[in-house]
Amino acid sequence: MIAIDPARLRSRVETLARFGGLPGGGVTRPCWSPPYEEARAWLLGEIRAAGLEAWVDPAGNVFGATGMGGFGAERPAVLTGSHIDTVPEGGILDGALGVLAGLEVLQTIREAKTAHRLPLAVAAWSDEEGRYGSLFGSRAFCGTLDLLRVEEMAAVDGERLVDAMARAGFDARRSGEAKAPAGAVAAYVELHIEQGPRLEEAGIPIGVVDSIVGVRRSRVVFTGQADHAGTTPMERRRDGFLAAADYALKARDLVVKHGGGRSVTNFGVVHVHPGVSNIVPARGELVHEMRGPDAKTLEALARRCASLASRVARRRGVGVELRPMSATAPALCAERVQAAIEGACATLGLGSTRLYSAAGHDAQNLAAITDAGMIFIPSKGGRSHRVDEMSDWDAIARGANVLLHALLALAA
Ligand code: GLV
Ligand code: MN
Ligand code: MN
Repeated sequence: MIAIDPARLRSRVETLARFGGLPGGGVTRPCWSPPYEEARAWLLGEIRAAGLEAWVDPAGNVFGATGMGGFGAERPAVLTGSHIDTVPEGGILDGALGVLAGLEVLQTIREAKTAHRLPLAVAAWSDEEGRYGSLFGSRAFCGTLDLLRVEEMAAVDGERLVDAMARAGFDARRSGEAKAPAGAVAAYVELHIEQGPRLEEAGIPIGVVDSIVGVRRSRVVFTGQADHAGTTPMERRRDGFLAAADYALKARDLVVKHGGGRSVTNFGVVHVHPGVSNIVPARGELVHEMRGPDAKTLEALARRCASLASRVARRRGVGVELRPMSATAPALCAERVQAAIEGACATLGLGSTRLYSAAGHDAQNLAAITDAGMIFIPSKGGRSHRVDEMSDWDAIARGANVLLHALLALAA
């Protein structure tokens, strides 16, 4: 039976991990950064060395393919992929696995001269982690990028997307040209680590994703009054940070109580202004993220949180402004793709279970233009978005072989 080369895949995963690699393990490789651009150049070289066509689109997405000469509706391609950008202090597998396993699968099929009716392609999507806006490259490819917003897209540290892309040799204003022609993608399958504990704890080697989370982010800014931190009586202070902290704790409880059991929330960005110990904070700024599988529940939570923010502000004598930043829609995976993955598991004698992805993925954008699905493999200790994120090398090889057989079935 045809199978991938696990040593070649491992060697590529370990090599890619060196771009932006951190001394204590893990990687910091944000999209468009120098280590990212070096990794892109390396990846293009690997794709070409594997005997595949390689190209980059105006949104910076990297592609490798077997005999297709670009996307067109005449010969729709079966596509796989993921991303090679990482969160700050992230792990070596989130995204990298799906890209390098896709490359390994295409190389294996090419070398074995295995027949497939439809062309096969692998993508490395730009800025999946959303330093400048979540799932950027796949949004551009799927035609859902709001081009009017490109000029104002910026990272939380203020760096603008247009500047970051220009430094890497891209014109952000042309990202819309990455849109794929209608009907150009016959199906999409993405291999990824689970990033949570469910598969490992259940002792099941393969997860077949049935649905993917929606993520909403808003900036919540509480504005009070700067004052002397020693001389201002406690009851007269209008502290922007304490209002933000009060809101964060209450919003957390609200989401747990009203989120239908599967909604989660996080405050990963907090700014205090002016940010010195002897001034009562004039301003507390938060980025409030909420996630869940159901769009209506998320909508209702967002409304409740908006009124909570007003109540907290009123009680603490400060002002509040709530600005929505982004909202990705929850997506369902296609039954046809789930069946192809389960068929691949049966061929390989591997157990599987269907499960929901609480992490966002490019596959949710692809789901809007084609039949999309995802394969998960267990994450050690359920750890992800941290430097010690890992999976067993055997689990990685199993996942890549499931991807191989699923892609062959969809391209047959
Ligand atoms: C992607 O990593 C996400 O934030 O879900
Ligand atoms: Mn991630
Ligand atoms: Mn990822």
